[in-house]
Amino acid sequence: MKLIYQQVLSFFAVIAVTILLLGISFSRMTKSFMYNNRWDQLERYSDGLVEQSLTANRKTGKTAFNIKKLDNYEAFLKNQSVHFTIYQPNEKPLYPKNQETDKITSSEWKRLKNNQMIRKTDEITAENKNNNNPAMLEVLKPYYYNNKLLAVIGVGLYTSEVNSTLNKINRDLVKALIISLIVSMIISFFISRRLNRRINVLRDAANQVTKGNYRIRLVNQGKDEIDELTTDFNHMTENLEKSADEIQRQEERRQEFLADAAHEMRTPLTTINGILEGVKYDIIPADSRGKSLDLMMSETQRLIRLVNENLDYEKIRSNTIPLHETKFNAYDAMHQLPGQISAKASAANDEIVIDAPKNFPVYADYDRFVQIMVNISTNAIQFTKDGVITVKGFRNKEDNAAVLEISDTGIGMSNEQAQNIFERYYKADASRRSGKYGESGLGLAIVHQLVEQHGGTIEVSSELGVGTTFTITFPDENSKKQDDE
Ligand SMILES: Nc1ncnc2c1ncn2[C@@H]1O[C@H](COP(=O)(O)OP(=O)(O)OP(=O)(O)O)[C@@H](O)[C@H]1O
Ligand SMILES: [Mg+2]
Repeated sequence: MKLIYQQVLSFFAVIAVTILLLGISFSRMTKSFMYNNRWDQLERYSDGLVEQSLTANRKTGKTAFNIKKLDNYEAFLKNQSVHFTIYQPNEKPLYPKNQETDKITSSEWKRLKNNQMIRKTDEITAENKNNNNPAMLEVLKPYYYNNKLLAVIGVGLYTSEVNSTLNKINRDLVKALIISLIVSMIISFFISRRLNRRINVLRDAANQVTKGNYRIRLVNQGKDEIDELTTDFNHMTENLEKSADEIQRQEERRQEFLADAAHEMRTPLTTINGILEGVKYDIIPADSRGKSLDLMMSETQRLIRLVNENLDYEKIRSNTIPLHETKFNAYDAMHQLPGQISAKASAANDEIVIDAPKNFPVYADYDRFVQIMVNISTNAIQFTKDGVITVKGFRNKEDNAAVLEISDTGIGMSNEQAQNIFERYYKADASRRSGKYGESGLGLAIVHQLVEQHGGTIEVSSELGVGTTFTITFPDENSKKQDDE
């Protein structure tokens, strides 16, 4: 059953029961009030009758009813539909003459003789109906004179008189109750409808949330439980929105990491593949075979480290890739570079010149250092045909940092292009890319991030048609600490 009908029904039940109870108790109250009223009135008639028609003989002290006065009084009371009977102490009726005798029971006589007044009503019983005796409302009152029972006067009124008034009151009462029931039903219907609308608003909003709309917020008047529910609902959508954003951010981060890792794996895999091809077709000169296998091994190890470092889910989640910085002589690493990129270099017919002092200390993460060098030299080959790529290493003037300078004699870039190359997915000229090696526009973004992590700097100077030079500094451990301070 719909909520609105349930509510209306429950309102109805409560109101109907309340009204019924009220109605019953009210009609009982009115009945007893009216009966008491009438009994009082009958008692007054009875007293009046005795006062007016009972006379005492002064000489003998005997009392007697004046029949003439009684007749007058009877006529007067008849007008009011009231009947009276006077009984003698011997339980016989005295007036009116033709009155039946069995009107007062013996137990009633007992009470009367004990000077107790009796108020009674005989409701319409089957017997009364059969005898054609209408029900009566009656007062029986004993009168004493000099401690001697003088007479008992019964004054009665047909209950139909009282009941017709009562019925009228009851009818009015029922009418009023029905009207108030209808009015309260209408009011309860509107209240329920309003509540239902508010619940429906919440339901629609919940549906929206199911469909993935977490931005939804409901207006809250802060008045009742539904408003409290609304507040909770708003909290819920707020939290859902936050977690959805977080999930989205993490998904993006994960994709970035995967793309970066794939980018960095390409070079070692190409190198290894080149060497394997050389072995297969036996084109590696015998004297450089050992060197090639060394290179292959170091590239494989680098690859393993790369996979371990970059694809750790926790690191992706917290967006940190730890650096294992050490002080090492970069001479060997630099001289391994031509082997790592030789395939690309010979395809572009580029010469690679390495220029580094025998002792060239660098404070950096070894793998990242190689990664930076490989990325920039790969770019240099990519944008240089039949040219020279020079990779130069030296200490800066203050001798507190290592400098790596990679220059080419390639196509160069305009100033505007050079400003954007560190952006992720930026490619200066989509038509310019070779497609063979450079594909995603990620290389320099990765390099930039790595250099920053090392606390170093990267600069580019380039001239269209002349060439490009990248200058990277790796500060020493000490100078980095000083910077921190
Ligand atoms: N040595 C260079 N000479 C001329 N342009 C360069 C040079 N190095 C980088 N660029 C320009 O900077 C852009 C960004 O370089 P980046 O290494 O980030 O991406 P990519 O080489 O195009 O692709 P990826 O490195 O992801 O394979 C290049 O597309 C190119 O336009
Ligand atoms: Mg690149």
